[in-house]
Amino acid sequence: MNFGYFDDTNKEYVITTPQTPLPWINYLGCESFFRLISNTGGGYAFYKDAKLMRLTRYRYNNAPLDSNGHYYYIKDGSTVWNPGWQPSQTALDAYECRHGLGYTIYKGIKNELEACVTALVPIGADCELNKISLKNLSDSKKNISLYSYVEFCLWNAVEDMNNFQKNYSTGEVEVVKGDSRSCIYHKTEYRERRNHYAVYAVNAACDGFDTARESFLGTYGSPAAPQSVGNGTSCNSIADGWQPCGSFRLDITLEPHESRDFIFMLGYIENPADDKWEAPQIINKKKANELMEHFLSIKDFDNALLRLKDYWSHLLSGYTLEADDEKLCRMVNIWNQYQCMVTFNMSRSASYFESGIGRGMGFRDSCQDLLGFVHLIPDKARQRILDIASTQFENGSAYHQYQPLTKKGNADIGSGFNDDPLWLIAGAAAYLKETGDYSILDEMTPFDSNPDNQAPLMEHLRRSFHFTSTHLGPHNLPLIGRADWNDCLNLNCFSTVPDESFQTAGASEGPVAESVFIAGMYVKYGRDYAQICRHAGLTKEADDADAQVEQMIQAVLKSGWDGEWFLRAYDAAGKKVGSHECEEGQIFIEPQGFCVMAGIGVKEGLAEKALESVKNRLDTKYGIVLLQPAYTYYHLELGEISSYPEGYKENAGIFCHNNPWVSIAETVLGHGSRAFEIYKKICPAYLQDISDLHRTEAYVYSQMIAGKDACRFGEAKNSWLTGTAAWTFTNVSQYILGIRPEFDGLCIDPCIPETLSGFTVTRHFRGAVYHIHVDNSAKSQKGIKTLLVNGTPVEGNMIPYQKDVTEYHVSAIM
Ligand code: BGC
Ligand code: NOJ
Repeated sequence: MNFGYFDDTNKEYVITTPQTPLPWINYLGCESFFRLISNTGGGYAFYKDAKLMRLTRYRYNNAPLDSNGHYYYIKDGSTVWNPGWQPSQTALDAYECRHGLGYTIYKGIKNELEACVTALVPIGADCELNKISLKNLSDSKKNISLYSYVEFCLWNAVEDMNNFQKNYSTGEVEVVKGDSRSCIYHKTEYRERRNHYAVYAVNAACDGFDTARESFLGTYGSPAAPQSVGNGTSCNSIADGWQPCGSFRLDITLEPHESRDFIFMLGYIENPADDKWEAPQIINKKKANELMEHFLSIKDFDNALLRLKDYWSHLLSGYTLEADDEKLCRMVNIWNQYQCMVTFNMSRSASYFESGIGRGMGFRDSCQDLLGFVHLIPDKARQRILDIASTQFENGSAYHQYQPLTKKGNADIGSGFNDDPLWLIAGAAAYLKETGDYSILDEMTPFDSNPDNQAPLMEHLRRSFHFTSTHLGPHNLPLIGRADWNDCLNLNCFSTVPDESFQTAGASEGPVAESVFIAGMYVKYGRDYAQICRHAGLTKEADDADAQVEQMIQAVLKSGWDGEWFLRAYDAAGKKVGSHECEEGQIFIEPQGFCVMAGIGVKEGLAEKALESVKNRLDTKYGIVLLQPAYTYYHLELGEISSYPEGYKENAGIFCHNNPWVSIAETVLGHGSRAFEIYKKICPAYLQDISDLHRTEAYVYSQMIAGKDACRFGEAKNSWLTGTAAWTFTNVSQYILGIRPEFDGLCIDPCIPETLSGFTVTRHFRGAVYHIHVDNSAKSQKGIKTLLVNGTPVEGNMIPYQKDVTEYHVSAIM
């Protein structure tokens, strides 16, 4: 069963009922101002940081679900309704929501009145714009009232929830009513900080307004049935403490078949630090006025929408696929790349599953997000790499998370996740392969955000690499620390011997627990590191790195192989984890994917065996589960992983993030059909028809799908913010379709199902356009027989990069 359909021409997903199984959301904004918006108009806005700079409030875990948003109410006679159905839930005569790239359009029809809201955040501006178009579909005149409503958050979203003894007395607003526009300024905090406020405006003289939530809703009223709307009036309230809100009332007459459009704006204004105002409670409206002059008209709104569409067309033109598989094309060309942008912007901070007040930017998460983003806007990726590197410690370890606004490491969480350092190499290598811009290696960037302690990025990468080489355990495998990629495998949670090399509170590392997964990472990214050294002219260092990588391979072959698959780890007591000797959790997905991706055990035939074991033991119809057998009780020596019931999250859930690792691993062995089968199992476009089971948005990946041991096998959770987006795009674009940036140029190395007879990819790469056609009439799964580049045969599968050639016509025959 599905709840909508893909409209590929408009690059939209069209939702046909407001009652989706869960709110189905979209993200507006791709620079500094963001809004989460659901298919019923729910969600909230923030500037840069969902915790520290929250403009509107949201109530998590609320019942009914998703009943806070930026809403419009229509009072038409005695009927009160919302174009997105929520929060009044008045039944609509027709409904549709279109989530597009950076904009959302939702439309309701009730009693022959159509109301269509288009919401977007314009490129280059810090505001959300909504155009509401009202259309009288009837043959008689209509007199209606339109009410808008937003509930302000008092900026710091944590303080907003836990310090109301203060907040109930800080709220301040100012209302300015003009002939052609009406504004509500949300000034709370301005007195104290003098640098920011919000403006909420409409391009019309309003007939009434409210800024005190209690006045608008009624003391015991709710957004489902605001008292003012029910009464057909407004209180013209001026919030004085308590809960400031913004609401405008427009009384509108519509002749038969007449339409009218209005533009609403919610903007963030920041004054320069030195722009101190004499009387601090009086806001400087200069910038707010400029913003409104720029955007508060229908023409400007329409231009902003066109500009946004152009922006996305341009971004997506960097990688486009034509193939005889509509679902594959829509994921590659639209939705997978779109989700990569969202994960790049949000890391794991703000979604309908991440509160925005918990996790900020994850070190490992954001490094991986780069893999799917770097081709979209390389310059932004460059800056991100430097920002991330600046949260690294001198010894190579890193803060596990940092705050997007301040870009400073989060000391509460600290460091000690021993995979983190290597992800920095992964991100930097992806950037170098994409751009060939080695100047980034010379960029100075701090350790621990200390401007007085800076080093070139190259030095940061060196510390990353050596962190692992200098933190090896009894089997010469990397020490795991607090956890590796699998946050829930806390093998030292019981260990009493902390390692002093960790610099922050909360970080502890036993001297024994080791990770085979990190070993796989070290081999894969250690090779990249060696190549980076070579490009930087550091030959000796490159040779040393290669030698260390070789030693790690030997350590894995000696102590990381379990007979049929790669072992997962050794715990703090030196006992095996992820071994046939274990009672539960005998095989884990992560080392199978990563070690094979890194090429470990390929020539020895172990890689084949490991992937066979994955297929036999971990595969299900909805994807590959993380481990088997699931833990049935809490294992003190393993930690959080066994805290989940069987089949959920890291305890044998289908943790989508590492399914692409196995798919890539299959391409390493040349198994195109199997790689594609794995790709399809968790790919949204192929799952639309089980949306009722899956429940999360049909157009994006979720972090987790309940595994076969769970009661709700096949149900997804934690949509949007997951490394699955970046890894899947890497998999499908670089390994399955095989158009892969390498240090020396673009490599053509497809590994596809034999049923795919060929495909065409247009790829923008280092200032040139590549038109690549791959012919698979031979029904092969891997391997290029002939390669022609601009008419000239080329040996191997690497297109030599030529500085002045800006257009390449590439024809490859498999
Ligand atoms: C979750 C992980 C998550 C971690 C860090 C755990 O509870 O299961 O998926 O990465 O918390 O917040
Ligand atoms: C989600 C986290 O964001 C990510 O960093 C981690 O690798 C996975 N959970 C697995 O635990």
